[in-house]
Parts: sequence; structure tokens; C-alpha cells
Amino acid sequence: MKRMTALDLQKMKADRQRIAMVTAYDYTMARIVDAAGVDMVLVGDSLGMVFQGHQDTLSVTVDDMAYHGRCVARGLKRAHLTVDMPFMSYQVSPEQALQNAGRLVQEGKAQSVKLEGGMRTAPAIELITAAGIPVVGHVGLTPQSVNALGGYRVQGRGDEGAARLLDDAKAVQDAGAFCIVLEMVPAHVAAQVSASLQIPTIGIGAGVECDGQVLVCNDLLGFDTGFKPRFVKRFAELQDPMIEAMQAYVGEVRDGTFPADEHSFIRKDSAVKVTKLY
Ligand code: KIV
Repeated sequence: MKRMTALDLQKMKADRQRIAMVTAYDYTMARIVDAAGVDMVLVGDSLGMVFQGHQDTLSVTVDDMAYHGRCVARGLKRAHLTVDMPFMSYQVSPEQALQNAGRLVQEGKAQSVKLEGGMRTAPAIELITAAGIPVVGHVGLTPQSVNALGGYRVQGRGDEGAARLLDDAKAVQDAGAFCIVLEMVPAHVAAQVSASLQIPTIGIGAGVECDGQVLVCNDLLGFDTGFKPRFVKRFAELQDPMIEAMQAYVGEVRDGTFPADEHSFIRKDSAVKVTKLY
């Protein structure tokens, strides 16, 4: 099966087909989301929070992203793979950005890379795309700037905020990005941005008028019942069944009912009995 390309994804907007994107951080999840027909898989730097257990995404390195990128790539047959450029891997200079984007393609098996920011990242986007690496932009709430933004808040509010967001999105498109994520943006603003751009918009907390949607896999599968921002819909509640399965395992190990004969390699002429009770 052929992997989705940047051009295929742009054509989806032209054909008015919505794009389904989801994050994944390992091979097993990659196989599952690919089998479900997801169009784009993002190895997001959200892995700093949901995979590594940090409070934010700021500690994630290019090495981390490259490692998780190649793990995910091995599980994909059809979906397009975008890998996030982590904090401080593209902010210093466009040349630094190009070098790290190249590493994510070579070592992380990325088909495209994603950078946060509007006008300020345009020079980096230009250089990366000129080198033949497709780029996904990301405006609105940009989690790598959480300390400057004062928290994880809706962006693009009010006439001025909306105009600034549209200018930023256009700058990202004009610099050569083939697609752009809109995070935590009022739905009517995201609708206006989506209608104004030629490239597909992928929303997270940005309403239904975007050209596609993205969610963090752990959120949509309900791995953490303690985390439920407004924009997350849990399509499953897997935390409790997973804990229950683990409890059943612990119980059977303790009472000696696991492993049973069918899980053991038993000589035909010997019946194994539980001989020792703890
Ligand atoms: O890192 C991430 O998972 C993201 C998505 C939430 C868009 O950037």
C-alpha cells in the first residue's frame, strides 16, 4: 500500500474530504491507528507529557523525536508521518532548523516536519521547504511558548487577535507549508482561516470548519480519566479496563491459576501440579 504524501493531503482539501490526524509515539499504536484508516500520524512533542511524564513539552530533544519517529514509521502502511520539531531545534536560526529537520527525516523517518509559530518561523519554513522537506505549520496555542503565553489558553480572541492569527497562518502558507495546525482557536476564527487558505487546516480545539482534526491518541482512547480538556472527546474509556486486566493478572499470578497448562510447555507424559503455595 502507498503512503499518503503531502500532495495527497492537499488534494483532500481540494476534494472537500476531511483529514483525520492522530498522534502516536510507538510501533504498536502506529499499527493500530494505521489499521483504523487515519490519514496523518503525528509524532507530537506532546510525548514529553503523555509518554515521558513531564509537565510540558519543553524538555523533549531532537534525539527523542527521531527515536519515536522511527518506531512509529515501522508501524505505518498508509498514513503520512509528520514529526514535531521540539523546542530550541529551530528557534536559533533557519540553518539550525534545516539541519534538525534533515535529522528528523534521516533518523526519524519523517515524511514532513511540524514547527510552531507564525511569521517568526517563516524564514525557517522557507529554507526547509526549499530543501525538499514538506512542512506543517502550527498557530494558535503553541505549547512550546506556554511560559510566554501564561498557560494553555484559547488564542485569536477579539478582532485584533483574529486578524493576527490570520496573518500568521498566511505567512506560514506563503513560506511554503503544505498544511497547518490550528490549536485552541475560536471556531468562527478557525472557519475564516480555513476558508482563506489554500492549504488544509487541521484543528484541535478549533471547531468543525477546519479541513481536518487532530487529537492525542492517549486522550481519545481515555488512557487518563483525570485529564479532560473541553476539546477532547474520549472515543473509548480504556484506563479502567486496562487496570482491571492488570488486576486480574496480578490475582492469577498470586493464586497460581496463571499460567495454566495451555500456557505452558508440558511433556505429554507428565502432569504439572501446583506443588507450592505461597
Ligand atoms: O504535540 C502534539 O501532540 C501536537 C498536537 C496536539 C497538535 O502538536
